[in-house]
Amino acid sequence: TADTNTNEEPVTVTFEDGIAWVTLNRPAKRNCINPAIVYRMCDILNDLESDDRCKVLVLTGAGDAFSAGMDLREYFRATDDKPAERLKLFRANGQWQWRQLRHYAKPTIAMVNGWCFGGAFTPVIACDLAIAADDATFGLSEINWGIIPAGVVNRAVSQLMRERDGMYYVMTGETFSGKRAAEIGLVNESVPLEDLRARTTQLAKVLMEKNPAVLRTAKVSYRIASEMTWEQGADYLMAKHAQSVIEDPENGRNVGMSQFLDDKTYRPGLGSYKR
Ligand code: ACO
Repeated sequence: TADTNTNEEPVTVTFEDGIAWVTLNRPAKRNCINPAIVYRMCDILNDLESDDRCKVLVLTGAGDAFSAGMDLREYFRATDDKPAERLKLFRANGQWQWRQLRHYAKPTIAMVNGWCFGGAFTPVIACDLAIAADDATFGLSEINWGIIPAGVVNRAVSQLMRERDGMYYVMTGETFSGKRAAEIGLVNESVPLEDLRARTTQLAKVLMEKNPAVLRTAKVSYRIASEMTWEQGADYLMAKHAQSVIEDPENGRNVGMSQFLDDKTYRPGLGSYKR
């Protein structure tokens, strides 16, 4: 069957205490990414960026999969002889999977609850943070069906994985667990599946205590500076710092400094100033 899920939302969004839970919702197809998901995700990411109900965005999957990668039937085979449609689709996929996510205005967490293959690595890597279930299964399975990890997968993987690990999984297509993903730095940590949502919520709450404007600049500038020389990085970061202080609606730098030096109500080494 082409798509058993046509009456369902391909992606659901639910809001809960500042968290927007964005859930890929084709569980019967292991949430593999078809055109409906691609175009829906572009809209959702655009909308949530300016939606006050979303302070932290969590990306996850319904059922026992995070995502089984790109939909071989609808994303690849169905566009084999439709170059114009393919171009539009592939561009939109790059748009949500990394162009938007990598520099997103809100903090993002990938919550990898189960199967995670091929193209699904890209949004996991593009999210700021990632937490996996211990027993989630990751795999760069492209080699198993005769393609290379394209889209931008090889580029993304080489950003986070050590070369020996990256090359190993790219070349063997062997699967690995969430525990292993944490050991090799693909995700921040792994926890038992039953604790996954609670731990993700806890982490989101920590992020929500921070000054949101400064948090945004901190994470975006981290990624941009990582691609610069040290001299360029120092100059750019001092400029971003100055801009951030001027534009911060909370005047956080001075408030934080005063709460520590004058009021002695908190210690910056041990937590956030009171907003
Ligand atoms: N593309 C298209 N259909 C898919 C995909 C996919 N990536 N993944 C799963 N499905 C479909 C299956 O065809 C099946 O459809 P059907 O019920 O109409 O027959 C349904 O989802 C369930 O899949 P099963 O294989 O029956 O589920 P199972 O739980 O046994 O296995 C697993 C899950 C391991 C994820 C398996 O589905 C699989 O290997 N999927 C492909 C993973 C992959 O290699 N993805 C591509 C990566 S490369 C890239 O993204 C560019």
